[in-house]
Order: sequence, then C-alpha cells, then structure tokens
Amino acid sequence: MGLAIAFPVARQLAATGHEVHAIMGARTKDLLLLEEQFRSILPEDHIHITTDDGSYGEKGVVTAPLERLLQDKAVNQVFCVGPVPMMKFSTLTAEKYGTPIIASLNPIMVDGTGMCGCCRVEVDGQTKFACVDGPDFDATKVDWNDLRARQAAYRTEEGQSLKAYEEANCACQR
Ligand code: FES
Repeated sequence: MGLAIAFPVARQLAATGHEVHAIMGARTKDLLLLEEQFRSILPEDHIHITTDDGSYGEKGVVTAPLERLLQDKAVNQVFCVGPVPMMKFSTLTAEKYGTPIIASLNPIMVDGTGMCGCCRVEVDGQTKFACVDGPDFDATKVDWNDLRARQAAYRTEEGQSLKAYEEANCACQR
C-alpha cells in the first residue's frame, strides 16, 4: 500500500519473486497517483484501488482491502506511506492481525539534515528526526497523535499563504 517510497520497494520485491499487492487510495479519481507504475509491475488482481467518493475503484478507504488481504493471505509485511490518518488506521488494522508494518513518515521538514529539529517524531517513546533517523519506522511504535498535531502546527499560515497565492493569480496557474 502506498506511493512514493512504497513503489521502489514493491518493484524490488516483485522482481525477486515475492507476491506483492498494492493498495492505493485517494479522495477522488483525479488525485490517485502512480497507478500506471504499479500496473506495470503487478498483475491486475494484485492492484486494489479505493476512492472516498467512489469515483474510481472501490468506494471507501484503504483499510477495507487491507483487512481482506490480511484475512485471506499470509501477509509477511505491510508498508504504508501517505496521510497520517491513513497510516494510523492501517497500522491498527495490521496490528489486529499481528502483521509487521513499516510507515514512511512525512512530517514537516526544513533543512533535512538533522539540525533544525522540525521533523521530530515520537517513536517508541523516543524523539527521532525523520530526515536522518527515518523516514521509515516500525509503525506500531509511532505516536500518531503527536505527528498529526505537529503537521497541523502551521495550518493557519498555510491557509493564508494559499489564499495570497491564489489572489496574486500566479503565472503558473494561467
Ligand atoms: S528537517 Fe530539520 S532536523 Fe529533520
């Protein structure tokens, strides 16, 4: 399941003879990413797509096909990357079946060198810097509520910035 980090992992595992399934979810069809890439390496029945609004694939969220796979198959490992709520609930689903799950975290980052401290995440009760200690961690050890709160820290400023960008009628939008 997942996108940016998970695709190279999926390609490598599929190329070495492992059975790999890709679960991809998005709010709506137009926001789905990397479908073609996953289709190029996996058989049709190993691709599972969900959209919140039902515009493509199964209506709903990725935890539904994840749970079916965990019930039906001997899954050795789950990888997830994407929005924090999706990763949190995927982790809870994998934990229910005792299946290991790795999350590729995406906190706010500034310098990406381990110096600014912006990307702090709590993992197994310890502070880690996702840029240098991760970004991949045992998802069952991640403090998801802390990560979600930290990601929302600049929501007001992000909204103001987006508004200013839209009002300026930026050349790249024309
Ligand atoms: S982004 Fe600055 S420490 Fe990780």
